This record gives sequence, structure tokens and C-alpha cells, in this order.
Amino acid sequence: MTDKNILTENKARAVVIIGITGDLARRMLIPSLYALYRDNLLPKDIKLVGASRSNLTTEAFRALVAESLMQFVAATDRVPVKMEGFCQSFEYAAVDSAKPETFAVLADILGNVKNSEVIYHLSTSPNLYGSICAALQSAGLAHDKARLLIEKPIGHDLTSSRAINAAAGAVFDEERIFRIDHYLGKESVQNLLALRFGNMLFEPLWNASHIEQVQITVAETVGVEGRWGYYDDAGALRDMVQNHMLQLLSLIAMEPPAGLDSSSVRNEKIKVLRSLRPIGSDNTAIDSVQGQYSAGSIGGTSVVSYADEEGSKASNTETFVALRAHIDNWRWAGVPFYLRTGKRLAERSTEIFIQFRSVPHSIFKAAGAGLSPNKMIIKMQPEESIQLYLMSKVPGLDRDGLKLKAVPLNLSFDHVFSKQPRRIAYERLFLDAINNNGTLFVHRDEIEAAWQWIDGIHNGWQQSGQPPHKYASGSWGPTSAIALTERHGHSWHE
Ligand code: BG6
Repeated sequence: MTDKNILTENKARAVVIIGITGDLARRMLIPSLYALYRDNLLPKDIKLVGASRSNLTTEAFRALVAESLMQFVAATDRVPVKMEGFCQSFEYAAVDSAKPETFAVLADILGNVKNSEVIYHLSTSPNLYGSICAALQSAGLAHDKARLLIEKPIGHDLTSSRAINAAAGAVFDEERIFRIDHYLGKESVQNLLALRFGNMLFEPLWNASHIEQVQITVAETVGVEGRWGYYDDAGALRDMVQNHMLQLLSLIAMEPPAGLDSSSVRNEKIKVLRSLRPIGSDNTAIDSVQGQYSAGSIGGTSVVSYADEEGSKASNTETFVALRAHIDNWRWAGVPFYLRTGKRLAERSTEIFIQFRSVPHSIFKAAGAGLSPNKMIIKMQPEESIQLYLMSKVPGLDRDGLKLKAVPLNLSFDHVFSKQPRRIAYERLFLDAINNNGTLFVHRDEIEAAWQWIDGIHNGWQQSGQPPHKYASGSWGPTSAIALTERHGHSWHE
């Protein structure tokens, strides 16, 4: 990796979203661009262009943009005059990568900025990334100032991800490709860097000598949300672990980077991913658990099983996965990293739980007081907080013996930063891409190292032929997930 791309003088002059009529664009991309426009954060005179295969008039397209703002922007964030200005500044191009000649229209719309810094954001099926890149190239749009933004899933396994990366790489240099993992746009995820490398307190303890175990949980209450076709093909391992969870793991486990530039941060993450001990046919049975939700109740409302979701067929796809991972390097030798994610779980919660080791000798034992190890809980969603559990003496004269208790130091970011507006992850990612800053985007080598590890787990599952364990919607997953940690003397933090 050679790119050093905090080059703010290379601000983009246009953003083109290809696949603008799709769900992601309507829910996230249009509202995020609108928020930046409303707050005057976009470069002056930036061109905004939506593109898709549909034959829409400019008026019909702008009506669609307005509709998505009404539907997906909170009423308190809607400023009518800004919404109107935003819609009017959006142009539309009907393009079809199967007919590359249609991209000439896009070139016309870009006009005098077409040879400048233009961002092409592909919000389409990844199967089309290769042909869209080729069509951009044939229209003369993929020159060396153009940038490509692509969404997950980058492939279904290592082979297909390599094919996608190669097709995009045949047209755009790696430093011009910005792969999105929307978790990296989240404030709470970026805060992991501040916590680890902006404080002297933690780094000396951040290793196998002082940490007993780490747990990363991304629990969702939602089901497949009408995306059964996509989801059934992916499953929880590919949909969540390959990308979001391995990004969290890398940020928690990496060595201090030399700086905040993209090469430094991404190089350290890659080292972590390459140090993951393979989980394959020998150990999937002890180091992994798959589950699939059955009917149950979430927040008092009954929900159907995965097998009864709209559009479903008989399926052994996992909607829950728990893993015991190891990072085979000096810092983390012997420390289990438990990863757990699932749909239709008891609550929505993304958190990182770190349990420190016990003190080497307790001076309180003779006095009958027990000690529990220090714990740190980094809550990332829905609220952001850090709790650090410390042992404290319970006040009193100790006539019945000394008593100690683990009490939390609580830091609530929502409280401390209550006046700071909260941004959607995509707002941050758009701005960074506009400013040509790749730190919060994923390098090809990260994607491929992650797939290599994930493929091993999948192959192990396939060889075992074990179907996922059922779990009731509204629970914390199958009971075998409890055994995964307890077998090693640990238990899930809930
Ligand atoms: C997406 C997955 O990448 O992330 C979804 O495809 C999942 O299945 C979503 O629901 C979770 O994102 P967030 O930001 O709600 O935690």
C-alpha cells in the first residue's frame, strides 16, 4: 500500500450515484447528501447526478428525490427551502451498463467537470460493478482523477471478491477505489481510535498479559426486512462478520498506527486480519455456532420464523453466528475474541466487552472479600457509552467483614456531547470521499484477508453438514452459543 491520500486540494467536483432508484440510495445516500447540502458542507458548485436504468424525466426524478427526503429525513431536519434547492440541483442520467453507449448521456450531463475529480458511487448489485466500470471507461469517464465508491458485499467468497476487485482495478487504481463499510462511518467506531490512541491509560494494558477475553456483539432485533433473497444467499457470517465485525475486531486489536492516514491505519488492520487463526473443518464444531430464528416475540410483538418470512423457501442459512477467534501474534497470544451477531435477538445492541485479568494476589482474601476482574464495556449502539468496572469498598465499619463491590465509572457520550449533532455514517463517508481521504474505507487486501478466514469457516460448516440450531426470536440465540464461551470458563456479557 503506497497511497497517502489526505489530499484535500483534490475535492470532488461531482458526485454521481449509479443505482439511484434503489433502496440504499433512497434510504441513506440521498438523505445523507441532503444533510451535507443543507449544512453547506458540500463544495460550492458540486454537481449531483443520479443515474439508473429507468427512463425518467428530470422532473420525475426530482420528485423521487423529494419523496425520499419526505420519507427518510426526520421532520425536524427538513428545511423546505434547502430541500427544494437540493432537488433542483440533482440531474438525472438513464444509463445501462449492458449498453455502454448510454454512458455518453452521463458525460454530457457532467459537461465541463467530466475530466475533473468526479465520484462514481455504485449502489447497484456487485455483479454489475465490472460492467459499469468498463462502461465508464468506454465513455472516457474513468480517467485518473475519477474515484469509485463501492458498497458491500464485495463478493461472496475470496474467489468472487478477487474477480470484483480485479474488474474494478482494471479501470481504477487502488487509491481511487473507496470500498464502503458503513460501520467505519459511525462516530462510535471512529471513537475506538481516540479511546485507544488518545489516552495513555489503556495501551500499556492492551495485551494478553492484562486482558483475559474480548467479546464483540452486534445484536439486531430486526429480521430480514424484506431482503430474503439477498440474505438467504449471504447469511450472518457473510452479511455481518466478514465486514462490520472484522472491522471492529481489527480496530480493537491492531498495533498503534504511525498516523491517521489511510496507509498507516489500513496496514495495521490488514496485519490483524492476516493473523486470525483459521477456523476450519477441524474446529468449527468447537469454535463456531450457527443459529436460525424461529417464531417468537420482540418487544411484546409476535414475529414469524425465518422459514415463514415473505419470499422464503426451505433453507439452512444462518441468521445467528457466534465464533471464538484467536489472533496469533505476540500481543494477543491465547486471548479469545468471541464474536456474536444475529437477527431477531433480544435487543439491539452493538458493544465491545473487555475483561481484564484478575489481580495476581488478593490481599483481601483473608478478610473474606472477593474480587472480580476489571471490565470495560464500550457500547456503540443504540446509545454510546463506556463503562469501566472498578473494585470499590462498600462503605461501612466492616463489623461483618470487609465488603468490596465492582462499580462502574460511566461515561455517556450522548450526555457529554448532547449539543453536537449526530451524523449518519454516510455523511461522513461522502465527505471523506469528496476530500479524497481513504482512511475510513477498506483496502482490497483487507477484504481478501477477511474472505479467506470466512471461507474457511464456511467450508468447515459445509463439511460438517450440521444445520443451524433454532433459537426463539427475542432470545440471545441458541443455547449452544452459551456453551461456546462456558467451555472456556467465560460467559457472554448481557
Ligand atoms: C448491513 C447488513 O450491512 O448492516 C444488514 O446487510 C444489517 O443485514 C445492517 O441489518 C446493520 O447496520 P446497522 O448500522 O443498523 O448496525
